[in-house]
Amino acid sequence: MNKHLKTILLVLFSGILILSCGRRENKKAISEAEISGYYQEQYRPQFHFSPEANWMNDPNGLVYFDGEYHLFYQYYPDSTVWGPMHWGHAVSHDLIRWQHLPVALYPDSSGYIFSGSAVVDETNTSGFGSAEKPPLVAIFTYHNPDLEKSGSIKFQNQGIAFSLDKGRTWTKYPGNPVLKNPGIRDFRDPKMFWNEKTKKWNLIMAVYDRIHIYSSLNIKEWTFESEFGMGIGAHGGVWECPDLFPLKVEGEEVTKWVMLVSINPGGPNNGSATQYFTGEFDGHKFIPDDTNVKWIDWGRDNYAGVTWSNIPGSDGRRIFIGWMSNWKYASVVPTTIWRSATTIPRELLLEKENGRYFIASEPVREFANLRTKSDTVYIKKQKFTGEKEITTPGIALMQSELIFDFNLSDPDVDSIGIILGNNVNERIVIGYTAVRKEFYIDRSAAGNSGFSKEFAGISTAPYSAGTSIKMHLLVDASSVELFVDDGKLVMTNLIFPTEKFTKLKLFSKSGYLTLNKAEFHGIEKIWP
Ligand code: FRU
Repeated sequence: MNKHLKTILLVLFSGILILSCGRRENKKAISEAEISGYYQEQYRPQFHFSPEANWMNDPNGLVYFDGEYHLFYQYYPDSTVWGPMHWGHAVSHDLIRWQHLPVALYPDSSGYIFSGSAVVDETNTSGFGSAEKPPLVAIFTYHNPDLEKSGSIKFQNQGIAFSLDKGRTWTKYPGNPVLKNPGIRDFRDPKMFWNEKTKKWNLIMAVYDRIHIYSSLNIKEWTFESEFGMGIGAHGGVWECPDLFPLKVEGEEVTKWVMLVSINPGGPNNGSATQYFTGEFDGHKFIPDDTNVKWIDWGRDNYAGVTWSNIPGSDGRRIFIGWMSNWKYASVVPTTIWRSATTIPRELLLEKENGRYFIASEPVREFANLRTKSDTVYIKKQKFTGEKEITTPGIALMQSELIFDFNLSDPDVDSIGIILGNNVNERIVIGYTAVRKEFYIDRSAAGNSGFSKEFAGISTAPYSAGTSIKMHLLVDASSVELFVDDGKLVMTNLIFPTEKFTKLKLFSKSGYLTLNKAEFHGIEKIWP
């Protein structure tokens, strides 16, 4: 056979093989969903976003436009493990209930579509729309697997695409790439935003373990401005998915700039996590306030989180969502037809304490609309020592919001907390140890963990409580999100109990602990 024909046949054959394998995965996905019911599979989050089927990682292209919050995400529609990346797509009117839309961006001859961002180009600087009909413009990383295999290091470049129909269909810019790889392996995850002061676009992206900042007048041509990150923050891994935005300090007429930088590995509790910096930004250079390492979330399962652009000024919030997983074990978690969910969307608040700025995160206020009105339990003030079982009549613990207010003024009180458990002795412990000034979440006996030796264990976070402490928990089918003292400390962790948790206990290992009050809510599921 002629050599060329042979190659063509080989390529065709492997194409068919890949397609049919993909289809098989999809068929399998659909039949399993049919058996368990829509969004009813074991471990399926009931009030967090997850794709109907197959693999998801980072949130992408977060933008609010014309009454809709867009959530694009890293998606592989043909398998439950990572593969050629697409941008999946969903929209919401309230950040809570989501409508799935068709895949927005497909890989093409320039590569897979890696993470990126989207903006409303209000004045049509890009020329893709008109002033009357401003385009949505997305910028993303083209990851070219062929170039990578060929040994080149220039396989990540930035491309753009635009939409004139509220994000339903996208056209890739024929002039792509708009930002070419200068010869650095890790060169990705562009986040662009309009800078009101300089009247220019800014873009920040991850370049190995640094940040590069660019500017542009038209989104098509970018000028390098500066580099940030040498000797600052955590460097235990590659930097990814940055974000940069202004945020007003709570209670002051001061606005600072906040930079988010995800890092993998090198998180405070092993694996993926997101650090942040506060500082000043003039459109050219980011100057941090200090060199301390600060984390958005001390749990093990909140990664690659970024914020929505174009939130109306009348709202003014900075809203964040993260990928609720960790690269240490994301591809092997024991879910069936889908893999991964997002965190609950959170409002980021910039607070100042003892002359230092820090971020607090709280579930967005819209979340409270999911409280089932009938199932609310209020617990009155009480004092106890040892373990104390609390009954929560009518509330399914694995679809709930639990809010506790403890008094810590008794000097004998040391190690306190909450245990959620089931009938087969599996449990998650959420505790605070006053002498060590430390929060911890222990999921070492919380159920299924054999899928990865990296999963079970205890995550800890330094925290200095005052004379009382508020613990706010969102518990879904396979996750626990802890917000301490109005979000000053956050810990997000996945769990896979073999049976649902139905028991709630409080503990105080020494001394009498006063529970000032508690409030429990059943949470509605968001899927039909
Ligand atoms: C972060 C990340 C990004 C990249 C994407 C690929 O989780 O590694 O840096 O763009 O995922 O799916």
